[in-house]
Amino acid sequence: METTLIILKPDAVQRGLIGRIISRFEDKGLQVVGARLMQISPELAGRHYESHQGKPFYEGLVNFMTSSPVVVLALRGVGAIAICRKMMGATFGSNAEPGTIRGDFGVSNSFNLIHGSDSPEAAEKELGLFFKAEDILAWNRASEGWIYDLSGDEPE
Ligand code: RTP
Ligand code: MG
Repeated sequence: METTLIILKPDAVQRGLIGRIISRFEDKGLQVVGARLMQISPELAGRHYESHQGKPFYEGLVNFMTSSPVVVLALRGVGAIAICRKMMGATFGSNAEPGTIRGDFGVSNSFNLIHGSDSPEAAEKELGLFFKAEDILAWNRASEGWIYDLSGDEPE
């Protein structure tokens, strides 16, 4: 099981897309184990996007991410990191495939609705930036045995 960090960016919240985007992840079978509405500070945005510091789009990215509230989610599932990245689609809305979140809900390259961790290392770092350990809940989901085949050693 993996847990990944998802951010519904300011444009997703302002456009009233929170419910529709979370529904896609729930429909897929991912489990919400953490959720919070918050305003990101410039300092936190800087730590989150540390690897992009110095790039031409960095200042605009931090301004955007701190401009209005976001919804931060911790999503759990087998292969959750890669599954969420696929569901998000390509970085730029202008070329994200139909069927993906960025492909279906946006056209902009900067206002691209959603962030998702891109590796296990990034997920661990980002979950630590946005959640206290006690705010990620390993709750028992009643539907688990119909979402995964639990008859073997690992959920399939
Ligand atoms: P994210 O981190 O937000 O989930 O997006 P991503 O992995 O798909 O893309 P990444 O390369 O990590 O870039 C982070 C954010 O920076 C903006 N960006 N602008 N103008 C540009 O060339 C450019 N490249 C990246 C995007 O808003 C992207 O989400
Ligand atoms: Mg990224």
